[in-house]
Amino acid sequence: MLNLFKKKKSNSQGAMQELLNNYELPSFPSLIIEVLSDLRNPSQSLGAIATKLEGDPGMTVKILRSVNVASFGVSREVTNLHTAVSMTGHVRLEAILLSHAVKGALPNATAPNFSMKQFWVAASQRACLARQVAKRLHPTTQLESFTAALLQDMAVPVLIRERNEAYQKILTSMQGQNHWLHDLEIDHFSFDHTDLGGHMAREWHLPQYLVDAISCHHKSEDEDRTDLEPGVQIASLIRQDVDPQSLEPVYELAKREYGLDKKTMDKIITTSFDEAEEYANQIA
Ligand SMILES: [Fe+2]
Repeated sequence: MLNLFKKKKSNSQGAMQELLNNYELPSFPSLIIEVLSDLRNPSQSLGAIATKLEGDPGMTVKILRSVNVASFGVSREVTNLHTAVSMTGHVRLEAILLSHAVKGALPNATAPNFSMKQFWVAASQRACLARQVAKRLHPTTQLESFTAALLQDMAVPVLIRERNEAYQKILTSMQGQNHWLHDLEIDHFSFDHTDLGGHMAREWHLPQYLVDAISCHHKSEDEDRTDLEPGVQIASLIRQDVDPQSLEPVYELAKREYGLDKKTMDKIITTSFDEAEEYANQIA
C-alpha cells in the first residue's frame, strides 16, 4: 500500500502564526459572506438574495454566464439575475458564488514551475472528479463535493506569493519526483497548505463543510480529522500536473476504500477531465 500521508507536523500553528504576523490575508467580499449566510437561512427568499446580489455587477455577470453555458440546458439566453437565481437554486448558487469569489480573492501567484492557469485546471479536475465519484457513491452531496475539491488547495497561491523563494525550491523538488506537495511544505515551513487553507476558510466564514474539507484533505487517519466525502478524498490525490503515473494513488485509494476498480475509475477520470476543461475555461 502506498503511504499517502507520511509526514507528521510539529508546531504547525506557531509556524503559521509567524507567517500571518507579517502578512495580511486576502480579503473575501463582505457581500458574498452575507449572501452565503442568507443561503443557509430558510427565511431568506431567493428573490431577496438576487436583489442583494445585484449590488455586485461583476458577480451578476458571472452568475448569468454560469447559467448560460451549454451544460445548464437553457433553451434561450437568460439575461435577468432573478430568473438566473431561481433556476440555480440554493445549493448550485452557493457553488457558483464560492468558486468565483475565492478565485477573485486569491493572489495572482507566479513562479517558474507554476501558473495560475494550471492551478485552476488542476482544481477543476479535482472538482469534476469529486462530483463524478459523488454521483456514483453519494449523489446528494455532488455539488458540495465539487466545491470542496475545487477549493481544497486554495492556500497554495498565497504561500507561493508569500514564501516565493522557498516555494520555488519545493516546486523544483516536485519535478519528475513522487513527492507530495504537503510533505515538502512541512519540511520547509512546518505547516502546509491545509493548515493555511483551513485558517483562510474560517476567517472568510466559509461553510463548515468547506473548512473541514480544506483543513483535513491530507490528514492521516491517526490525526484529528473530520471524515471527508469519498469523492473529495479521492480528488485530493490529483496533483498539479497530471501524468498517467501520478494517477496510481488515485486508483489505489478508490479500489481499497470504495471498491471502484481501475476500469470504472478510468471512465470516471475521462469524463471528469473532459468536464474540467470546459469548467476551467468557464471560470477563467
Ligand atoms: Fe492539497
